[in-house]
Amino acid sequence: MKITVVHGQKHHGSTWNSTRLLRDFLMTEDDVCHEFFVNDIPHCVGCFTCILKDEEKCPHRNLIQPIIHSLDEADIIIVETPNYCMGMTGQLKNFFDHMAYRWFSHRPLDGMKNKVAIAVSTTAGLGASTATKHVAKQLFWWGVPKVYRLHEVVAASNWEEVKPEIKVKIEHKAEKIAKMARKNHERVHWGIRQKLIFKMMGRMQKAGLGTPKDATYWKEQGWI
Ligand SMILES: Cc1cc2nc3c(=O)[nH]c(=O)nc-3n(C[C@H](O)[C@H](O)[C@H](O)COP(=O)(O)O)c2cc1C
Repeated sequence: MKITVVHGQKHHGSTWNSTRLLRDFLMTEDDVCHEFFVNDIPHCVGCFTCILKDEEKCPHRNLIQPIIHSLDEADIIIVETPNYCMGMTGQLKNFFDHMAYRWFSHRPLDGMKNKVAIAVSTTAGLGASTATKHVAKQLFWWGVPKVYRLHEVVAASNWEEVKPEIKVKIEHKAEKIAKMARKNHERVHWGIRQKLIFKMMGRMQKAGLGTPKDATYWKEQGWI
């Protein structure tokens, strides 16, 4: 099994450590795991090159492409972010912005429909659930059918300060989610919402309401 982890920040705090616990429960010695950090990707400049022309021509493609390649190959995707102001980190959102061309409304990758993902977040008080919800929403629009969410209130600003009983709680949650993800990763299917959205987007492409680049892609895939 291939696992790809996208870290929404670089330091080894509570979210990184929760993700490490999850990854260790998830992996056997036959599995491979690739990990990426998104901190050094420059901001999306809104040039529309990926959407209108060619994603390979994105000015930041050299930094984005290895992550996307790994995500495309993965059986299980993990995306982690601490809660910053009731949501994901800015750098993670910036990464997701670079993936806009992969949304259902543009050029979704067919292979996403077989993947399972896990969104991880921690917070001092409130908002980790919101952060994982925001991550899950992005992955939904890429076409990932199942996103598990591991989020916890740690009442701390770093992992060393997190109380042992909270660490145990995270460990239990991580173990449970890892088991479910392993069990279900080859059995997932789009639900009614994703099926409907895909159908609607197909109609939109057929009617010429999308971009020519997207319409050509949908035709090449044999979807319209
Ligand atoms: C910029 C920033 C914004 C934050 N926003 C919130 C917040 O809205 N609510 C909250 O309860 N904690 C907030 N926190 C605290 C972190 O969510 C919390 O300490 C988290 O566990 C940090 O995870 P980490 O150790 O992986 O960085 C914020 C921290 C930072 C640095």
